[in-house]
Amino acid sequence: MLRRRTYFFLALLVGFLSVVVFNLYHYQGFSSNSEPTTRHMSDSKSIIVIGGGLAGLSAAHTAFGRGYSVVLLDKQPSLGGNSVKASSGINGAGTPAQTAHGIVDSSEAFANDTNASAGPLARPALIQTLTAQSAAALAWLSEPPFNVDLSLVSRLGGHSIPRTHRGKGGAPGWAMTSALIKALDPGKADGRIQVINGARVVKLVERDGAVSGVEYEQQGERKSLAGTAVILATGGYAADFSTTGLLAQYRPDLLETPTASGGHATGDGHRLAASLNSPAALWDMDQVQVHPTGFIDPAQPEAHTKFLAAEALRGSGGLLIDSKGERFFDEMGRRDAVTAAMQKVAEAGRGPVRLVLGPKGAEALKAHCDFYVGKGLMKRHTDTASLADEMGLHLEDLSKTFHAHNSYKRGEQTDPFGKVHFHDEEFDINAPLLVAQITPVVHYVRIVLVMMIGLTES
Ligand SMILES: *[C@@H]1O[C@H](CO)[C@@H](O)[C@H](O)[C@H]1NC(C)=O
Ligand SMILES: *[C@@H]1O[C@H](CO)[C@@H](O)[C@H](O)[C@H]1NC(C)=O
Repeated sequence: MLRRRTYFFLALLVGFLSVVVFNLYHYQGFSSNSEPTTRHMSDSKSIIVIGGGLAGLSAAHTAFGRGYSVVLLDKQPSLGGNSVKASSGINGAGTPAQTAHGIVDSSEAFANDTNASAGPLARPALIQTLTAQSAAALAWLSEPPFNVDLSLVSRLGGHSIPRTHRGKGGAPGWAMTSALIKALDPGKADGRIQVINGARVVKLVERDGAVSGVEYEQQGERKSLAGTAVILATGGYAADFSTTGLLAQYRPDLLETPTASGGHATGDGHRLAASLNSPAALWDMDQVQVHPTGFIDPAQPEAHTKFLAAEALRGSGGLLIDSKGERFFDEMGRRDAVTAAMQKVAEAGRGPVRLVLGPKGAEALKAHCDFYVGKGLMKRHTDTASLADEMGLHLEDLSKTFHAHNSYKRGEQTDPFGKVHFHDEEFDINAPLLVAQITPVVHYVRIVLVMMIGLTES
């Protein structure tokens, strides 16, 4: 007799910061439960993946590699999701790139940092999966057929060791997703991978207590698709701003906060999962990450959707100063802590907050900075006096801040905000600066829902 098993993987990704280790959960979770020996409800061996971000792409490749045919559905006109926007990198501990830079790390150290970051919400089993398999996940991306360049490593907020990997091109999210999208071509060519864009899944079809397919809408037409299993890789709901949406339900306090998310992140997958006859349990739905550094575009300061300022800007020595030119926090702190500190600054009437990058940081992130300057989001100042002028301050107000930070960096004094990790930058009032005004933005809902449903097992 067939005993039906439904697998749910609900992954709360913490500590990442910058990106996206989604593929890890998806990849591992999927592969460890989908041995080709499993008996299937349908004999077509067809897997339906909903969502074409890094998670869905990773799931699609994994299923394909294990002999399944794959239908990848994305409601957007093109694949990539929010993953394409990841601008600082992907975390991994114990990688060859770290070794090449002389960085000693371990998955245990990564787990400890993640555990500390998660606080009372830590789920040890998920942290273990995320961290212990992070190096393998990065290897999967950087080896053939994907060959993603992840050779640069930096230390970002919440990490005790540099472990955020990116490539020389400066756009790691794009590099990862585009490599995975391109590598779908051979599967598409032999007909075992089908990508359907503009397809919004509206229903999970259930038969005998298992999911047996989906119904989706495409150009106003309703269509259905049967499969052996359905994988939800649909991302979060950081852009579900409607009055009846998930933000209103779980985090009404954030409805007015700008977002850095694409408008497509509306929690469709969560709704689908909750609509099953045996609804999926949704955990930690109120855990919405507010990223401290969204750019305030001088051309449209009130825009609700903002461009994200890469976390790597702080990781590369960027300072945060208030309207008096004073620092107010450890720039290398965790995102939630930096955001809370910025909110206090705003409440005290000392906004806007500016992010100030020196020449070494600008050089380390040249591709990013050229892009931001080109978009008018960062401004070049010839020297500190120019910035002081724009802020209506005396040169001394800023030079005091910079000189104090230099002495913390050299270890001559202790940073009053507890900063211990410093980039190799000393501020010189005669050197140029790159400066942006920033504000917290709803970033991602750190809940990645991965469900593989419908598989049966003897
Ligand atoms: C991780 O934390 C545990 C428990 O606090 C500690 O014993 C261990 O030494 C830490 N490991 C690393 C590599 O920091
Ligand atoms: C995880 O963090 C908590 C504090 O939030 C701590 O009590 C616990 O020892 C940590 N666990 C490990 C394995 O380090």
